[in-house]
Amino acid sequence: MLIHLVAAARPNFMKIAPLYHALKKEPWTEPIIVHTGQHYDLNMSDVFFQDLGLPKPDLHLGVGSGTHAQQTAQVMMAYEKALLKKPPDLVVVVGDVNSTLATTLTAVKLGVKVAHLEAGLRSFDRTMPEEINRLVTDCLADILWTPSPDADENLLKEGVPPEKIHRVGNIMIDSLEMLRLKIEKDQTYKTMGLPSRAYALLTLHRPSNVDNQKCLSSICNSIARIAKTTPVVFPVHPRTRKNLEKNGLWSFMKEAEGLILSDPLSYIQFMNLVFNCSFTITDSGGIQEETTYLGIPCLTLRPNTERPITLFPGTNQLCKVEVLEDKVKEILSGKSLKYRCPEYWDGQTASRVVSFIKGFFEAV
Ligand code: UD1
Repeated sequence: MLIHLVAAARPNFMKIAPLYHALKKEPWTEPIIVHTGQHYDLNMSDVFFQDLGLPKPDLHLGVGSGTHAQQTAQVMMAYEKALLKKPPDLVVVVGDVNSTLATTLTAVKLGVKVAHLEAGLRSFDRTMPEEINRLVTDCLADILWTPSPDADENLLKEGVPPEKIHRVGNIMIDSLEMLRLKIEKDQTYKTMGLPSRAYALLTLHRPSNVDNQKCLSSICNSIARIAKTTPVVFPVHPRTRKNLEKNGLWSFMKEAEGLILSDPLSYIQFMNLVFNCSFTITDSGGIQEETTYLGIPCLTLRPNTERPITLFPGTNQLCKVEVLEDKVKEILSGKSLKYRCPEYWDGQTASRVVSFIKGFFEAV
């Protein structure tokens, strides 16, 4: 049985890795890694393959950057060619990036079965490109693997037949547990001169935060003030760096006291910074989940989240830039946050998915 595992952008690689390793052990299947090329820089893609023990992609569509329509259309055209040449028995897509939607749409139109891992998450904010990708992917996919009960409920409310929905847990936790020892041994936070559990880790890349000059500038000013008292480390995403440079904020941030800027880091290096920080400030989806699992406070610079399970009870809080400094003071004052790790966020998601696929094809 031939299974395509589709990966495209940085947050996808840690979602396919545990599944690839688990499927590779099974005699009844051959997993094939399909990289669409949405992320192509060495430090946005290749280093993740190295850290996660993934081989070079079997199929590389080489699509690269572009507008949403260009990127989606190019992935569809390239993937259609590959599917016509040799269709797999199942395509597994993950997350909510443009390539997730593009490969799903291409496969279902050719009658190839699609399973979506991380299905059912909803921010209910259709100004987010990811929300559109999630809605379309879940509407089309044959199998919906969800990470949490809220995702099941969202799908049921949308009228999805219950037999399509299967809660398998959070696959990112599998990657974290798979590499825990290497993450703990890594020296990144020490090499950067950061004090254990006494620094903040910042990431930013959402268009709503970084494409708008006014918004980006107020975030930067607030971060520079926070960094005066608490060191802040900021691995900068390429989209964000472009916008900081374009808006004349790059040198301001580089020179700000207590702020350390770096290029994007590898999975192990980045997770070492997460493991040892005091708290995170982010607009990423994955970091909201990883900090929930680890019990680390997280301030999410967004008006909503498709991961409400990280909020109640959880260490994550949605936060406007206007109150960011007050929220940081609250965290530093040691007010403890109640949290509970969601069910099935246990490092066993890949094995649940493998059992499901085996049963699914035995039943056909
Ligand atoms: C994409 C996903 C987003 C995910 C994020 C993680 C969509 C709509 N967005 O956003 O959901 O959270 O990945 O990073 O699919 N660039 C490089 N090198 C690269 C990749 C990108 O320089 O390897 C630059 C390019 O200038 C590109 C820009 O970053 O135009 C944005 O890349 P793109 O893949 O379009 O979106 P992301 O912002 O990375």
